[in-house]
Amino acid sequence: MRGYKYNMKHFTSLKYFSGKQIKALLELALKVKKRPSVYKSKLKNKYVGLIFQKPSLRTKTSFYVGALQLGAQVVYYAPDEVKIGEREKISDVARTLSGYLDSIVVRTFSHKVIEEFAQNSAVAVINALSNLLHPSQVLGDLMTLAELKKDVKKIKFTYIGDGNNVCHSLLYAFSILGGNICIAHPCGYNPQDQVLEECYKLAKKSGAKISLTNEPADVAKEADVLYTDVWSSMGKESEREQRRKIFRDFQINEELLALAKKDCLVMHCLPAHRGEEITDSVIDGKNAVVFLQAENRLHSAKAILLSLLAPK
Ligand code: CP
Ligand code: NVA
Repeated sequence: MRGYKYNMKHFTSLKYFSGKQIKALLELALKVKKRPSVYKSKLKNKYVGLIFQKPSLRTKTSFYVGALQLGAQVVYYAPDEVKIGEREKISDVARTLSGYLDSIVVRTFSHKVIEEFAQNSAVAVINALSNLLHPSQVLGDLMTLAELKKDVKKIKFTYIGDGNNVCHSLLYAFSILGGNICIAHPCGYNPQDQVLEECYKLAKKSGAKISLTNEPADVAKEADVLYTDVWSSMGKESEREQRRKIFRDFQINEELLALAKKDCLVMHCLPAHRGEEITDSVIDGKNAVVFLQAENRLHSAKAILLSLLAPK
């Protein structure tokens, strides 16, 4: 079994991790950020493959540069190159690449592809975003909160917008760690029922509080964090015009921010559709920490790679 501190085999969903494991990853990410040179040869002679079936700026760069900074070599496959499940079966791709690589980072549409990939891979599979989840994003976000001394157990964390992949991974994180997460979404754009059911079970154990509403102003009141994401995720582009109308009242703007605490953090995973889910003045304003979040994707990606690949 591989693993840095814990025996992690894959990183496909935060739901497979305990609070202790997530905290260990966060501690490692903070250490990597503070003293990157300590880790510069930890993945020498390791090979990391990146298969991206959707565009990416932050995730691709974080895992690519992160792996190089740890001494590993990287092979990148562009969206149309591998055609997982089209040119050949997912299991055949996973089994083939297991013979060459030490880890495979996959960004795709259906989450089932990630699961099937992991089931058939002898080497570590990392979810770089699926339609269902975006766990590496949320690890970076938790790192940002930790760095800014926001204890997830003590804050009112508010997510406003689409019940999408980022929202799902935030839900898992808060449910496992025992935080207070409030979600405001338009009717019909709620997080998936299965994710919510699992999170309610996790919350029973951790003491987490989960609340859902269709009223953004209610959850923004006295919030410590306002988080949002695009209204139309990758793959939903054809719904953009329709969604712009449906989500109109779910924008993070000056008015909504005024309801939150004075030192409220404004978070966004990026890319942002400025003028839709967030205004220029808020994303460029003093409460926003979006570029710190973006930078922390690198350090947290390195923590994931180290945990999966570095010898103990
Ligand atoms: N936040 C994020 O995952 O960005 P990219 O889609 O650019 O990787
Ligand atoms: N929800 C967005 C996140 C992008 C990082 C999407 O899936 O497109």
